[in-house]
Amino acid sequence: MGLFIKKSITQLLADAAESEKTLKRTLTASSLIALGIGAIIGAGLFVRTAAAAAQHGGPSVTIGFIVASIGCALAGLCYAELSSSIPIAGSAYTYSYATMGELIAWIIGWDLILEYAVGAATVGIAWTEYLNNLLVTTFGMKPIPYEWSHSPFETSLDGLHTGMINLPALFIVSVLTLLLIRGTQESALVNNIIVIVKVSIVVLFIVIGWGFINPANHTPYIPAATTYTDHQGISYDYGGFWGIIGSAGVVFFAFIGFDAVSTTAQEAKNPKRDMPIGILGSLVICTILYVLFGHVLTGVASVEDFRTTGKEASVAFAINKYMLGYAWLGQAVTVAILFGFSSVILVMLLGQSRVFYSMSADGLMPKMFSELHPKYKTPYKANLLILVLVGLFAAFVPGDIVGDMTSIGTLFAFMLVCAAVIILRKTNPDLPRQFKTPWVPFVPIMGIIVCGLMIFGLGWINWLRLIVWLAIGFVIYFSYSRSHSLLQKGELVDPKDPPAPKIEE
Ligand code: ALA
Repeated sequence: MGLFIKKSITQLLADAAESEKTLKRTLTASSLIALGIGAIIGAGLFVRTAAAAAQHGGPSVTIGFIVASIGCALAGLCYAELSSSIPIAGSAYTYSYATMGELIAWIIGWDLILEYAVGAATVGIAWTEYLNNLLVTTFGMKPIPYEWSHSPFETSLDGLHTGMINLPALFIVSVLTLLLIRGTQESALVNNIIVIVKVSIVVLFIVIGWGFINPANHTPYIPAATTYTDHQGISYDYGGFWGIIGSAGVVFFAFIGFDAVSTTAQEAKNPKRDMPIGILGSLVICTILYVLFGHVLTGVASVEDFRTTGKEASVAFAINKYMLGYAWLGQAVTVAILFGFSSVILVMLLGQSRVFYSMSADGLMPKMFSELHPKYKTPYKANLLILVLVGLFAAFVPGDIVGDMTSIGTLFAFMLVCAAVIILRKTNPDLPRQFKTPWVPFVPIMGIIVCGLMIFGLGWINWLRLIVWLAIGFVIYFSYSRSHSLLQKGELVDPKDPPAPKIEE
């Protein structure tokens, strides 16, 4: 059987009809927006913004946010069409299995590990930074020693310490994995509270910080193109057009999570109207907040700060150093961030286990990863494997590297999702589509171009990491998955006449 063998849409819709029995259509447009914001605002804003300013864009990181949001909006419109025409609670992996065949589905599934597992590790590492900040500024304690809170590839600014293992990051991802195994999914109420707290903190920082902007930090707004080399000898394209594009690639991380909205198509009351509102609504709100936040942050503290003493826990640093009299805000931000990051990690770990579960149910991953815990009914073996993976990245790889790997992997998945819309329109023109991407093929093609540009802006070292990651994936596919695929073995039989999923208008 071929590499491009496809799962039929009928099969998927039958699966969808089956799970329809357990999922209720309860989500309204505003709950979808809240869901999106809950998964979106996290380390991207509170950690990667300063890194993007320091390494690539300076104050023009705000323009980077706009570029990244355009790429997300274009891909988001494509996600919305796929999730409404293949309304199975799945992901880009499921959509691509039906449209572009098994090999591409495998590539996307493998690539989504970068989005979810490596993304969770990135947020875990950011959690460490703010935990240290909490210990020092709120409790007046010493920070966790550098060696125990950094990866072996990091050296302190004074060159005196080298990291060994990032224990707090390992701790938080382990605790959250155990919660997931116990079957803890964040309730809508908890999510709403976290969303309100996160948005309030962001708005407070913007409003109060605005008065502390030092115009000198914003001059010039778009720095001249040059190269910046950090204290460990790593070089970046800084300033000019490529500085903006590079910063867009880095802060793209801050938008990841909006696609979580698309996976709930089966639970939306009125997917046709509410999916695009949920996806685009959360994107628009976040973009406005991010641009204003980036403007204030780069105005309050300087790029030099973000390259040196303000490199870690940058937002708390900027408040404590420059916004005198607002120490309470610094503390409130830190506490809110520690909770907010935990909820983002939880969503990412859950997303990863859904993908592993589907891949294992299809035979592409060992069967044991779709086994459910006898008591908690959760895919605990998949959760534990994910913990090993996420834990290794969180403990032993620097935040900059995992952050950029997450961005590049997700950008690549988005490009494939855009392509899938064009392909599905050709191969299945009559498929009922609750939501149709406007201006096909213009929107998907622009999505591919803008996401491709950001991949380009992330530089060759990240392309290389993506290529190595995909190469490892190919080895696993050809040595294991291909021969175990249930579809290849003919064990996924299409039901003759599956009931169509009911979509309420
Ligand atoms: N967008 C999420 C964050 O910034 C992944 O933490």
